[in-house]
Amino acid sequence: MLGKKMEKALNEQINAELYSSYLYLSMASWSESEGLDGFANWFKIQAQEELTHAMRFYAYVYERGGRVRMAAIEAPKTEWKSALAAFEDTLEHEQKVTGLINKLVKLARDASDYATENVLQWFVAEQVEEEDTADRLRQKVELVGGKGHGLYMLDRELAARVFTPPPAEE
Ligand code: FEO
Repeated sequence: MLGKKMEKALNEQINAELYSSYLYLSMASWSESEGLDGFANWFKIQAQEELTHAMRFYAYVYERGGRVRMAAIEAPKTEWKSALAAFEDTLEHEQKVTGLINKLVKLARDASDYATENVLQWFVAEQVEEEDTADRLRQKVELVGGKGHGLYMLDRELAARVFTPPPAEE
C-alpha cells in the first residue's frame, strides 16, 4: 500500500507530466504557426511521450492501491521568440523535471518505499536522455544560427521523428 505522502507526491508528478505534455504541444503549435513543420512534429511526439510518463505513474499508483485525482493543469507559454528560445526552454524544463524526480527518489528513500524507488529509477535514466536530447537540439539550432538553409535542413531532420511507445513495464 502506498503511503499518503507518496501518493500525494505521485499525483503531483502526474500533473507535472501532463503539464510537460501541454507545454510541448504549445511549442508544437507555435512551430506550426511559424511554418516549422518538422519542429512541430518533434514537439508533438514529445507531448505524446510525456503522456506515457503520466500514464506510467497513473498505473503504478493503482498497482499500489492508491488513488489518482486530476487537478488543474497550468497554462503554458504560447509564444517563443525563436526556435532557439523554444529549445532553451525545453532544456530548462527537463532540468526542472529531473529535480522533481530526484525529490521523489529522496522521498521514497526516506520512507523506505523501495518499490517506488525502483519504479523511479526508470525515470532517473529517462531524464538523462531527455536532458541530453534537448541540449543537443539546442546546440544544433544555435549552430545553424537559428535561420535560413540550416534551419530548413534541421526542420527536415526533425520531421523524421516517429513516436515509439515505451516498452511495457516489467
Ligand atoms: Fe516526463 Fe520530459 O520528462
